[in-house]
Amino acid sequence: MGTPAEPAVIRSPAEMTAWSLAARARGERVAFVPTMGALHEGHVKLLREARGLGQRLALSIFVNPTQFGPNEDLARYPRDLPGDLAKAAGAGTDVAFVPDARDVYPAGFQTTVEVRELARGLCGPFRPGHFAGVATVVCKLFNVVRPDVAVFGEKDFQQLKVVTQLARDLDLPTRIVPATTVREADGLALSSRNRYLSPAERQAAPTLHRVLTECAKEIAAGAPIRSVLPKGRQAVESAGFILDYLEARHAETLAPITSNEEGPVRLLIAAKIGKTRLIDNVGV
Ligand code: PAJ
Repeated sequence: MGTPAEPAVIRSPAEMTAWSLAARARGERVAFVPTMGALHEGHVKLLREARGLGQRLALSIFVNPTQFGPNEDLARYPRDLPGDLAKAAGAGTDVAFVPDARDVYPAGFQTTVEVRELARGLCGPFRPGHFAGVATVVCKLFNVVRPDVAVFGEKDFQQLKVVTQLARDLDLPTRIVPATTVREADGLALSSRNRYLSPAERQAAPTLHRVLTECAKEIAAGAPIRSVLPKGRQAVESAGFILDYLEARHAETLAPITSNEEGPVRLLIAAKIGKTRLIDNVGV
């Protein structure tokens, strides 16, 4: 067995649209996985799931500047195109759309797509403008790639909800399909940002998932949310994290939840260790 063929790299938006329209004219369904590159097994899982949802599989790699805040890691965000293409090839990717920022946001660009309610809580206040940046670029990527179906990870649960709402509100003809989170053996959710962790921080990082699953178990067993979450917050802070939030939300609407009966419940967390901000979530 040889190594699988690398995906064709397309940089021009017009060429990307032409590729997609040609595939659809042949009666092929186009599946799509948008990413910012630095692919890991989580991204590869999305690609494999998307592979089964269409006859053609497109990946995008674009580190989207509009979803980074001024003090965030845009400049040092990891980039590895050759490595990404090799991993994408292994997952059966046909084409990688890798646009230049000046083609995505040419001079004079002035439109923003905002999903109001869903972007308000959780990560919203800690990352002003982030979800507007995500919604805008996803809308643009969909308009260029014209996918029939797109796969997004539950790892970024609020983002998944924002994108699903965006597609519904704007009548986008793309079906949004969720994929479950891929984790290390110790529970840490895979993330491009895990590589920023020092060895000591890496050792502490699985605390987030451990606390989430312990809280979920207690809530499932009937313990009241209002007494479980404060203990969880304390456990995360004792492990050396600065906690942004640990919250219980309705798994569909992300509305705040105070009692177990209002479920289905999703627990979501964001916390900083050193300079690195990690997020995670689990269902109850
Ligand atoms: P990025 O962080 O590269 O993630 C791309 C996709 O991979 C997202 O749908 C994300 O939820 C999923 N993902 C990340 N880690 C995962 C894991 N451990 N298990 C399963 N899926 C995982 O999310 C973005 O890029 C951007 O915001 C984007 C949607 C591309 C818009 O710029």
